[in-house]
Amino acid sequence: MPRYLRITPELPPPRAYDAAIGAGALTRLAELVRDAAPAARYALITDDVVLELHTERVCEELRGAGLEVQLYSFPAGEPYKTRETWSYLCDRMSADGLGRDSCVIAMGGGVVGDVGGFVAATYLRGVQCVQVPTTLLSMLDASIGGKTGVDTEYGKNLVGSFHQPRLVVMDPTVVWTQEYADMIAGSAEAVKHGAIMDAEYLAWIDENAGALRECDTDVLTQLVVCSVERKSEVVQRDPYEQGERAILNFGHTVAHALELATHYSMSHGHAVAIGMVAEAGVGERLGVTEAGTSDRLRTSLERLGLPTRIPEDISAERVAELAAGDKKSRAGRLRCVLLERVGCVAQPTAAEWTWDLGDRLASLL
Ligand SMILES: NC(=O)c1ccc[n+]([C@@H]2O[C@H](COP(=O)([O-])OP(=O)(O)OC[C@H]3O[C@@H](n4cnc5c(N)ncnc54)[C@H](O)[C@@H]3O)[C@@H](O)[C@H]2O)c1
Ligand SMILES: [Zn+2]
Repeated sequence: MPRYLRITPELPPPRAYDAAIGAGALTRLAELVRDAAPAARYALITDDVVLELHTERVCEELRGAGLEVQLYSFPAGEPYKTRETWSYLCDRMSADGLGRDSCVIAMGGGVVGDVGGFVAATYLRGVQCVQVPTTLLSMLDASIGGKTGVDTEYGKNLVGSFHQPRLVVMDPTVVWTQEYADMIAGSAEAVKHGAIMDAEYLAWIDENAGALRECDTDVLTQLVVCSVERKSEVVQRDPYEQGERAILNFGHTVAHALELATHYSMSHGHAVAIGMVAEAGVGERLGVTEAGTSDRLRTSLERLGLPTRIPEDISAERVAELAAGDKKSRAGRLRCVLLERVGCVAQPTAAEWTWDLGDRLASLL
C-alpha cells in the first residue's frame, strides 16, 4: 500500500488589480507603478516598433521619476512570440542581475504582453508584472486576465502560464500611431464581447462604428472601458479557464486555424472577425444558434471595415485540419464555442461551455 501524505500549502488569495484607462494615463505611469508594484528594479520589455514610437520616452520619464529601469526590446510581430524571445529576455535579465524584487513592465501589443507576461511568470519562478498595452486589441482584450505565453511550431499559445498583473495602464491615444488597419482589427474583440454576453453593447458599437473608424478619443476610451468591464466579469469568475472563461474563445477555433494557414500574415483581429461569422454559421447549421445571427455579426463587422469571409485559397478542410490541432480541442476532439443568439452563448450541458464538433467542422463551414 502506498502512503498518502496530504500537502496543503497556504496559497495566497487572488489579488485585485486596477486597470487605469484614459487619455494621458501614461504620463502618470511612474506614480501608478510605484504604488501598485513597488520594486527594486524594473525590466521594461517592448518591441522594436513600439520602442521608437513610445517606450524610449516612457523609459526616460520613469528614470527621471527615480525608478531604476532596464530596457529590453525584441523584433515586432507574432513570429517573435517564441521560446527564443522568452529565453533571450530571461538571459538578459539574469546577466543584468535583476532579482526577485524586480518587476516586469510589458509595453506593447498583445505579443509583448504575452511574452513579457510569460517572462514575469517564470523569471526566478515569478516576479511582479505591469501591463502597458499599446494596441487597441491588447487594451480591450489581451492585457486583462493574466494569460501569458508563446507560440510553437505546433500552434499558438501552446506554452504559457496564468500570471495576473499588478496593474494595467492604458492610454487610448497611444493607438493613434498604429497602422490604421491594425487598430481597427482590434475592435473585432469588442464585437466578440458584445456577441457572447451583451447585445446592447454590440448595438452601441454599431451606432458608434463611424466615430471608431475616425479614432474619436472619447468613443475609443468608452470602447476600451466597456470591453474591459465585460472581459473582467468573466475572468474574475473563472481565472484559470476551468469553465466559463472558454466563452472568450468564440470565433477563435477558426481564427487560430486561419492565422496558422496564413503563417500569421493575417492579423489576429481579422482572423477573429472571420472566425466569429464562420462559427455563428456553424451554430446555425447545427440548429443551436438563432437563424440570422451570422449575418447580423457580418453587418456589424463590415460596418467597422473588418473582413468576414474565409479567403478563397484556404479550404474548409484545411481550416478544420489546423483547428483540430489547436489546444482548444480536448481528447483529440475539436471543440468550439457556439452562440444561442447575439449576446448569449449556448451551453451543451449546464457545466459545459464548448461544443464537441468531432470531425464535422469542414462540412459545417
Ligand atoms: N493573453 C490574452 O488573453 C490574449 C488575448 C487576445 C490576444 N492575445 C494575443 O495578442 C496578440 C495580438 O496582439 P496585437 O494585435 O496587439 O499584435 P502585436 O503585439 O503583434 O502588435 C501589432 C503590431 O503593432 C505594433 N504596435 C504596437 N503598438 C503600437 C502603437 N501604439 N503604434 C504603432 N505600432 C504599434 C507592433 O510593434 C506590431 O508590429 C496575439 O499574439 C494574440 O494571441 C492574447
Ligand atoms: Zn483573441
